[in-house]
Amino acid sequence: MSMKIPFFNNKQSKEFFHYPEDHTPDHIAIIMDGNGRWAGKRGMPRVAGHKEGLSAVVKIVKAAVKCKVKVLTLYTFSTENWKRPKPEIDFILRLPKEFLHIYLPDLIANNVRIEAIGDMENLPAYTRESVQFAIDRTRDNDGLQLNFALNYGSRREILNAMKKMFTDINDAKLSMDEVDEQQFSEYLNTAGMSDPDLLIRTGGEKRLSNFLLWQLAYTEFWFTDVLWPDFSEKEFLHALEEYRQRKRRYGGI
Ligand code: FPP
Repeated sequence: MSMKIPFFNNKQSKEFFHYPEDHTPDHIAIIMDGNGRWAGKRGMPRVAGHKEGLSAVVKIVKAAVKCKVKVLTLYTFSTENWKRPKPEIDFILRLPKEFLHIYLPDLIANNVRIEAIGDMENLPAYTRESVQFAIDRTRDNDGLQLNFALNYGSRREILNAMKKMFTDINDAKLSMDEVDEQQFSEYLNTAGMSDPDLLIRTGGEKRLSNFLLWQLAYTEFWFTDVLWPDFSEKEFLHALEEYRQRKRRYGGI
């Protein structure tokens, strides 16, 4: 049975948290790690951690809307996650449908636009269709872009982009002289999106796990030991506060 967590009438309001008005990252990408360990510590099955992870997603989407973040990209299912036991895969891939079934009206009311990156074709129909429905339904919204990375792997994305680009060169739709970083970016799943300004990884590991390898070239990284189901609005605002202290030099001085 699903229990709805209030989306925007939560007691944790501006009275308790400071919402930075300036230097908010436009695009935040999150590797939501630690669900399995969260469950293991409580003697619960791993899927209980993913379920609790969904509650954290609700809190962080809400916080991102309040902070006027433009794009929030969530690493929901990687191309490597197919190595997990089938029941766990099925459980994770049902979560987007569950989330959207409960919260799509709230997301629409808050002008959120749903997007997805990754190989959607090879996902189960219940995942693909529910996400596609939300994409279509929110297409004209211009608030937060909530971007699910689903069946996403960065190396595969880069290879596919290269293949498409070479096809266009072969078909004389593009000349080799026109190829530059900007042009190549247009062949990636993230075409049209700004690169992430801030990457958050929960769960204590410090690696990229094949996430947005091209797009994270100049991104600020923020790691925390907090397991994803425990990641709250407070930690999210802490990450934003640290981001505000960083000096981004992009290779300059
Ligand atoms: C990694 O933790 C987490 C995942 C592979 C799944 C993440 C999915 C969610 C949090 C739900 C998202 C739902 C929506 C609708 C966006 P892990 O299982 O690898 O944790 P561990 O390292 O402790 O084992």
